[in-house]
Amino acid sequence: MNEIMNVLEEVLQGAGDILYEGYRTRLDTWTNKGRVDLVTEWDMKSEHYIRQTLGRRCPGHAILGEEGGGSLDSSGYLWVVDPLDGTTNYVHKLSYFSVSVACLRDGVTVAGGVYAPVSGELFLAERGQGARCNGEPVRVSSVSALHEALFVTGFPYEREGRIPMLQRMVGNALSHVQGIRRMGSAALDLCHVASGIFDIYIEFEIKPWDMAAGVLVLQEAGGTVTRCDGGPLTLDGRQIVASNGVLHAAALDNILKGVV
Ligand code: IPD
Ligand code: CA
Ligand code: CA
Repeated sequence: MNEIMNVLEEVLQGAGDILYEGYRTRLDTWTNKGRVDLVTEWDMKSEHYIRQTLGRRCPGHAILGEEGGGSLDSSGYLWVVDPLDGTTNYVHKLSYFSVSVACLRDGVTVAGGVYAPVSGELFLAERGQGARCNGEPVRVSSVSALHEALFVTGFPYEREGRIPMLQRMVGNALSHVQGIRRMGSAALDLCHVASGIFDIYIEFEIKPWDMAAGVLVLQEAGGTVTRCDGGPLTLDGRQIVASNGVLHAAALDNILKGVV
């Protein structure tokens, strides 16, 4: 496992450096994967670097990356990669973006890390060993009342047919929580629930590479993750409720009331 953690940290730092270079450079080239779903040359550069490094350091391991593809159904070691989480922010020069990498063994996430190169936050977690940010242990909040909770969410690129349901979720949240944020990087949102900045995070149409690493960071920090019906989370389930644990039942009962 030590070697896996070393490789994980190396690829996060290296990819983060690439993203930071792009962030500082004027960026005026991107292409649309969907009407509002963007990809830049820096998403591609970051993933290319990560694939090359993993290929050299961990030959034989499988890779699933947002831009380069792959399959979640791999036995043995599988690395799940979001080379740039928060591309819309990145294109608009908003500093909240990250690179997210998880390592699965026979379908179980054994290591995960998220690096935000502008803030310098490097979150790392190893299954059973806790979660850290820049070497310091992180822990979820102890907020126990919804009216004291800061709720973070995200909205899907594919919005057709989903607006009423999203409105219901936001409406419910407005009636119950202290505040709502939509930051724009799911991986970092999960890490910020892990470190106690946010108390609850809910998102629909979320992909395996958005959540794989952040989920382990959150679990290792004492948090809870489930599907929106309270059932066990799966990385291909396209939905997530994450919380500090104390607020989980209240989030399911109140924020998701009439939504799912
Ligand atoms: C997106 C971000 C965003 C979330 C979207 C994701 P991308 O990832 O994580 O916060 O709301 O669902 O797709 O496209 O920037 O890698
Ligand atoms: Ca993403
Ligand atoms: Ca991405």
